[in-house]
Amino acid sequence: MKIGILTGGGDCPGLNAVIRAAVRKGIFHYGDEFIGFLEGWRGVLEDKTVPLGLNEVAGILPRGGTILRTSRTNPDKHQGGVGRCAENLKKHEIDALIAIGGDDTMRIATKLCELGLKVVGVPKTIDNDLSGTDFCFGFDTAVNVATSAIDRVHTTAEAHARVMVVEVMGRDSGWIAIYSGLAGGADVILVPERPFDIEEVTAVIRKRYERGRLFSIVVVAEGAKLATDVDPSHGAAVVTEFGKDEFGHVRLGGIGNVLAREIEKRTGFETRTVVLGHIQRGGSPSAFDRVLATRYGMAAIDAIHRNEFGMMMALRGTQIVCVPLNEDILRTRYVDQELVEVALGLHDKLVKDTVS
Ligand code: F6P
Repeated sequence: MKIGILTGGGDCPGLNAVIRAAVRKGIFHYGDEFIGFLEGWRGVLEDKTVPLGLNEVAGILPRGGTILRTSRTNPDKHQGGVGRCAENLKKHEIDALIAIGGDDTMRIATKLCELGLKVVGVPKTIDNDLSGTDFCFGFDTAVNVATSAIDRVHTTAEAHARVMVVEVMGRDSGWIAIYSGLAGGADVILVPERPFDIEEVTAVIRKRYERGRLFSIVVVAEGAKLATDVDPSHGAAVVTEFGKDEFGHVRLGGIGNVLAREIEKRTGFETRTVVLGHIQRGGSPSAFDRVLATRYGMAAIDAIHRNEFGMMMALRGTQIVCVPLNEDILRTRYVDQELVEVALGLHDKLVKDTVS
């Protein structure tokens, strides 16, 4: 078969591992031929391709980023875009396409399936917030990066008797915040799912001070929101600038600084912010992510040869399975309440009141 592969949306460690596994399994087991579409859907739309063979995938397993590059191009925002994508896939006589990406990438994949094209999806989001799968590759690496950053921040916080606010990724859900916050022993963990009350955050920090703990670590997801007085269950995320990408996402960032300013103003404790940003998405994938990505890549090839199209690969428990590509599996997956309870159980009851 002739199989196309693309990587869409924000990058994450493990994309190359998926590409490598798919190409190797396809060539060695089924005699497939591959071409790569560059820069996500832009490559399909504008017909930008590269050959993809054993040589091209050699040595890429530990490499972050993606050899196919990526973009947030949305064919739907271009005149006749999805139709043009379909034509270009036909022009290259593509028998099947593997789309590696998040919910935005998968929605375009679904549209192509509706036009009769044969597409399978591999889930990817550093935020780990796709309903259809238990874990996305890249997330584990991001958590490891954030955890080691929190460990480092701990020693300098303690040395200076400061409050340190660590801002991590997490647009709509706080998976990275809760995992790295738990692993790093943060004193307060703030997630987008629950707007927080600044008074309660500062009360937790003051209480620690009274107990002789002269420093505090706050981990905040970039999408966390300050609760409004009018409606405590709602708040607005902090955005860096106006303007949206082609899928309509605003650029987040800045909650860490807002929080640090408020903490210092209200408590008088010296406070600093560390914004981890794209450091979490860069570099070599963890062993867990390499294995998960490899399994996803192989599963995608097997699904294609079983003629299971319009499906997304998913991790359910310890098994990789195929699930139908539909809105149900593309919904945002929010942090489990049980995990929030674990975080809260370790801290003062006030924190519970802050985030529950
Ligand atoms: O969607 C994944 C994500 O890493 C979010 O956590 C973050 O808000 C966004 O992408 C950043 O996007 P970009 O790389 O386009 O700035």
